[in-house]
Order: sequence, then structure tokens, then C-alpha cells
Amino acid sequence: MTTLLEVSGVSVSFDGFKAINNLSFDIGPAELRAIIGPNGAGKTTFMDIVTGKTKPDSGEVLWGEMSRSLLKMNESQIARAGIGRKFQRPTVFEDQSVFDNLLMALKKDRAPWKVLFYRETTADKARVEELAEEIGLADQLQRKSGELSHGQKQWLEIGMLLAQEPRLLLVDEPAAGMTLAEREHTTDLLKEAAKTRAVVVVEHDMEFVRRLECRVTVLHEGSVLAEGSLDHVTKNQQVIDVYLGR
Ligand SMILES: Nc1ncnc2c1ncn2[C@@H]1O[C@H](COP(=O)(O)OP(=O)(O)O)[C@@H](O)[C@H]1O
Ligand SMILES: [Mg+2]
Repeated sequence: MTTLLEVSGVSVSFDGFKAINNLSFDIGPAELRAIIGPNGAGKTTFMDIVTGKTKPDSGEVLWGEMSRSLLKMNESQIARAGIGRKFQRPTVFEDQSVFDNLLMALKKDRAPWKVLFYRETTADKARVEELAEEIGLADQLQRKSGELSHGQKQWLEIGMLLAQEPRLLLVDEPAAGMTLAEREHTTDLLKEAAKTRAVVVVEHDMEFVRRLECRVTVLHEGSVLAEGSLDHVTKNQQVIDVYLGR
């Protein structure tokens, strides 16, 4: 299988304004992809469509080996099918420890009666430790999440999403508000996560995108303007014009 997510001919209008205009593109099963584009290009709306928050007026969004239509599924069905989304603002439980946040994320999809009688097993504990290692918070497990830096909270939230083992992770502007060191760690983390799943990152920071070393899709007025390596797309005259606002 070469395609995990296939978006074809998708359009959506808000009050007559075409936010997404005949958008088509594919994401592979273990691919890291950056989506860039000026404000209002439709990047967040694209994520809203994939996660079921917004239903398009036309087009198709197909998922997985069976090419199931995501448009026929609601938000929780899509999440259960393996699509995780990280929003710009972290939504960790600030009063809980890093360990407990990760543990809660692990049990999230379990049946209510199982959660009610839940006791942490050795396997869960090991998995939490493994996740903490992966996000670089192994030495912070007992910290209250509210005490973490902005960057650490973002990593914790990525860890909480990884706990659900999504096959596609959508991340909207992860670098915003991060220090350089935090941004570097975030790139490493996303690159690592993309070895075993697809990761789509919307980002404004070009240095951040460069460090991802991945295929880049440039959105403009709700359509794909250019696609390829960052060097390739930034040499494209149309892309240059759009970024310079001509
Ligand atoms: N729910 C909505 N209602 C009306 N207009 C919207 C809505 N969501 C997005 N838009 C408009 O669609 C366009 C694309 O928005 P968005 O996807 O947020 O762009 P980006 O994330 O690339 O900056 C913008 O012009 C925005 O104002
Ligand atoms: Mg946006």
C-alpha cells in the first residue's frame, strides 16, 4: 500500500467563500509531510475536514487499505480509526503528573467499566515510561504537568496522542512560542514518530520545516500550489509571489 490518506477534489465554502478549492493530495503510511502556506490558505480547514469537524461540499477523503470514506464518519469514529490531532494550545491536565497524563491517555479508549476497575498494570507502566523516553520527559514523570515549560507541555501532548497509537498524526503549528532548543527537540520527536506512522505538520517557521527534511506541500487559496522538497518549492516563482504578497 502506498497511500494512507487520499484527498481528492475536496471543496468547502463558508458563506460563499471557497476556503478549500478542489484540493487533492495523498499521504503515505509512514511519511512526514509539512504543509505551508500564507494565512488563510486553508491549512487548518484541511485538518478540520480530515478529522470530521468540517464536512466538505464536494470531493472525497479516503482512508487506509480499505479506502474507507472519512466523510461518512463522525469525529470520534475518525479518531478511533487512527487519526490523532494536536491543536495549537496544549490540553494536558495541569494538576496531574506527567506520568498520570500519559497513563490516562493510554486508557482513554477502554470501556468505561474497565476504567472504573482500572489498576495500572506493569505493561501500562512500561509503556508510559517508553512514551516518556520518546518525548524526552523520562526524568519529569513525577512533575506536575502545570510546572512544565510550554515546550514540554507540547511534547507531553504529543506523547498523549502517541499513546493512542494513531496511524496519522496531524500537528498544527507546533513550533509557535518555543525556544530554539525546544523547536529542535520537537523536530527530532516528529521525525522519530514518522518512522512508524504518517505525520502531517502545518508550520510557519521555515527553519523548523527545513529541519524536518521532508516533502512539503504549499497551500494557497485552498489548493496545492506546489509540492516537493523545501528547496524545490521555495524556488517556485508562484510560491515566491504568494509569500511576498504579490
Ligand atoms: N468556520 C469558518 N467559518 C467561516 N470562515 C472560515 C471558517 N473556517 C475557516 N474560515 C476561513 O477559511 C479560510 C481558510 O482558513 P484556515 O483554514 O484557518 O487557514 P490557515 O490555517 O491556512 O491560516 C480563511 O479565510 C478563514 O477565514
Ligand atoms: Mg491555521
